[in-house]
Amino acid sequence: MANLQVVTAQETVSIPLKSGATLLHLIQTESVPWGFNCLRGTCARCRCQVLSGQDGLQPPTEAEELRLRKKELAEGFRLACQAIVKDVEEDIIIQYTPYR
Ligand code: FES
Repeated sequence: MANLQVVTAQETVSIPLKSGATLLHLIQTESVPWGFNCLRGTCARCRCQVLSGQDGLQPPTEAEELRLRKKELAEGFRLACQAIVKDVEEDIIIQYTPYR
């Protein structure tokens, strides 16, 4: 089974992918420091950039399309509380990229 590779400023953590789980849920199972607040796709504190494996995720939710700019979506930015794992065949690599 493939993994979610989580890149933060401090470390890279590998977490087994689970179909149907949000990225944030998987991140929290390993206690990786990761900002979040609303869990509804409005605060964007959980924003990340998918560096590889975008096809393994469900398409952006309506909340992501409302909160993220088209340019961000095109560049692979997602909201970890909204992005759901679809496929567990290939690694998905994400980087924590909160707004500054
Ligand atoms: S926690 Fe608010 S958008 Fe994800």
